[in-house]
Amino acid sequence: MKPITLSTLQANKRAGEAFSCLTAYDATFAHAADAAGIEVLLVGDSLGMVLQGHASTLPVTLADIAYHTGCVARHKGRSLLMADLPFMSNASTQRLLEDAGELMRAGAEMIKVEGEAWMAEGVRELVRRGVPVCAHLGLTPQAVHQLGGYKVQGRDSEEASRILEEARALVAAGASVILLECVPASLGRAVSEALEVPVIGIGAGPDTDGQILVMHDVLGVTAGRGPRFVKNFMAEADDIQDAFKRYHDAVKTRQFPAEEHCF
Ligand code: KIV
Ligand code: NA
Repeated sequence: MKPITLSTLQANKRAGEAFSCLTAYDATFAHAADAAGIEVLLVGDSLGMVLQGHASTLPVTLADIAYHTGCVARHKGRSLLMADLPFMSNASTQRLLEDAGELMRAGAEMIKVEGEAWMAEGVRELVRRGVPVCAHLGLTPQAVHQLGGYKVQGRDSEEASRILEEARALVAAGASVILLECVPASLGRAVSEALEVPVIGIGAGPDTDGQILVMHDVLGVTAGRGPRFVKNFMAEADDIQDAFKRYHDAVKTRQFPAEEHCF
């Protein structure tokens, strides 16, 4: 099967066809997700929480992400492989470039960065060097202490227009994809309609171009009560690959997220 590339996601957006994304941290689960049709695999710094047991993503190192990116990259499927730059990789443009370089050498095909319009320079320098960038906006978990918790962002109209402007600035700097986390469904729709580039949502309503979830949430094995926007697809599935397939199909048919998963 043809590999999924940035052009595939752009074509999906133009055709109004939703695409599914899922986190993956190792070769076996990456294989199962890929075989289920998932289009984008993300080696997220959520691994700090779901694999390492930390209370936030802040302790995750570049070496951690590079190791798991290598594990996922070795499965050789058709999905696009995106990797997260960890906390403080954006300390300087120099560090950003070197850290992204390490993840690309480990097998990433796109780099995801948290940060708003001030990240534009770093994004521009990455893109100039051939590194596709996904810019993560809305609830940015690396800023959890600044935000005062994992809270919905962009609730009032001023905040919402600010987030849209940040997204525009990052796209102008060369970002190929925008990821929106935990924002009202109306903002998810507005940003997706306003931008030419694909927008991936998590807790951002049903109208973003793609959807993403953390694998452990899809499998219903996350400790404690998960956030509102997750769904356990294992509940009705025969096995793990079937759960991934049900998630993929629900995204494709826009049955997920449903009203109860949205803000
Ligand atoms: O780290 C992660 O898994 C993420 C997704 C939840 C978007 O950034
Ligand atoms: Na992340």
